Amino acid sequence: MVHPEGNQSPPGLVQHHPDPPARIVVLVSGSGTNLQALIDAEQADPAFGGTIVAVGADRTGIRGLERAEQAGIPTFALRVKDFASREDWDRALRDKVAEYTPDLVVSAGFMKLLGPDFLAAFGGRVINTHPALSPSFPGMHGPADALEYGVKITGCTVFFVTAGVDDGPIIAQSAVAVRDEDDAELLHERIKTAERALLVDVVGRLARHGWTIDNRKVILP
Ligand code: GRF
Repeated sequence: MVHPEGNQSPPGLVQHHPDPPARIVVLVSGSGTNLQALIDAEQADPAFGGTIVAVGADRTGIRGLERAEQAGIPTFALRVKDFASREDWDRALRDKVAEYTPDLVVSAGFMKLLGPDFLAAFGGRVINTHPALSPSFPGMHGPADALEYGVKITGCTVFFVTAGVDDGPIIAQSAVAVRDEDDAELLHERIKTAERALLVDVVGRLARHGWTIDNRKVILP
């Protein structure tokens, strides 16, 4: 739950300390291997600190939703094309997620930008994972862009979502070496291995200990 003082924080300062277990909504669009890592972590360790209360998607028929169903987690799918406008979709997503009263929303391979109404409701409580070392290579093609640029080190970034593209306050990063034989797919798969471990670690820490965002600086107790 939000600490009372959180609501009176000056702009740029967000504090949140979930009551255990932290309620987590995960948003997915595809294979859901990051989601699976979170499901496995919750199931493996009673002290993980968080519980996935729902999994949402922007499309149907994806492995990510199947993984949630197999784990007995409630799911929902809201497709942009079923709404009159992108703004209507954003508000519907906000309202659906709000039904689950999350402490934390985890965008794990969710391939839509979250809009202003969604972020107004959950700002400072939404995290995302990006397969590059921010601020380098934002956007949909992080591994391919890193490869094309010729960097020798890339990786993944877990960050709090703001209105920009992959540029919110950084929570944690992991480095991955680029190999001569890499193509974008090979590199992305190696990044995803690091990404899953990083996401599980970050979500567990946030769930157990809460967090403070002071402008761009994220402080985990
Ligand atoms: C991850 O690399 C994520 O950062 C990117 O898409 C991938 C999703 O993988 N946006 P998965 O659906 O969790 O397997």
